[in-house]
Amino acid sequence: MQKLDASEISELYGFCQKLARSAGAIILQGSKAILEQKGQQGSANEKKNAVDLVTEWDVKVEEFVKQQIKENYPNFAFIGEESYSAGDQNPITAAPTFCVDPIDGTTNFVHGFPYACISIGVIYEKSPLIGVVYNPFLDQLYHGLKGHGSYLVSPLHPSPLRLPLSNPAPLHSLSEAQIAVEWGSDRSKEVMEAKARTFARLAGDGSSKGGVEGGRMVHSLRSLGSAALNFAYVASGGMDIYWEIGCWPWDVCAGVVIAQEAGGFVSGSSKVPLMGVVDEQILTGRKYIVIRGIADTSGETGLETQKRLIKEFYETVEEWAPN
Ligand code: IPD
Repeated sequence: MQKLDASEISELYGFCQKLARSAGAIILQGSKAILEQKGQQGSANEKKNAVDLVTEWDVKVEEFVKQQIKENYPNFAFIGEESYSAGDQNPITAAPTFCVDPIDGTTNFVHGFPYACISIGVIYEKSPLIGVVYNPFLDQLYHGLKGHGSYLVSPLHPSPLRLPLSNPAPLHSLSEAQIAVEWGSDRSKEVMEAKARTFARLAGDGSSKGGVEGGRMVHSLRSLGSAALNFAYVASGGMDIYWEIGCWPWDVCAGVVIAQEAGGFVSGSSKVPLMGVVDEQILTGRKYIVIRGIADTSGETGLETQKRLIKEFYETVEEWAPN
């Protein structure tokens, strides 16, 4: 297996950030073209179904990124959303691997909702090492390197701000949480009904007689349409939890590093032991949960609270097999 030393890792980290910005410029160009075409047919094509969208720009951005990687890191493996859809379904091997979603939040991109990004992760020794998530619409760059923290760079914060953006607050119970969930692209009856029951239990008032059974009445549920940015917002502290079934390694790989380096705890399905280590099983498991860093209290460490709240969360939701 190819070993990377500290200076190679640091160079690679810089490369990923530069690459994300260059790819972001193409995303903006694409958005302009799509908005100019609005009302005309054909700006997006369907993949699995009518809500699983891909545009020529997803493909263009991935081709650009792949080419840059080939020129600079020819020995690295590559896993990318559009290459995967086109049949290039590389497994995670021992080789250092780029794991890329060229446009995460394609539906937002198509609709002109400025919540989309490029997500560039690097997997090393089968676990996420580097994460870079760039939203070109807001010019917000989130980046993290395992063991070295994660940061936000934006026009408001030109010198990197360490994440989370404020000292982690306590989070005593699920009912105090703002939680990101997504509609996803599996709209089958079975999944929609399980989601509806889950969302009702999370949001509903279960305290009174005749209320929502098992209702946790969380502060709110948010459905913003980009897994990578959801991870970044949990890392920042603006979102407390993000949970989704059905997304893919390229949606989450970069975000995992950014969130973990900000004190977040990432895990997989309810069956996965709460170890806080994202291995190949979690990365490819297509079920993800992340909870932000939480302050210690007199009775419980932040880590204990994170684990307790994840357990409480899994007692509340229903799980299904990702399609
Ligand atoms: C999607 C987004 C969305 C999530 C889906 C992903 P894409 O990625 O992250 O928020 O709900 O599971 O597939 O298709 O826009 O790259």
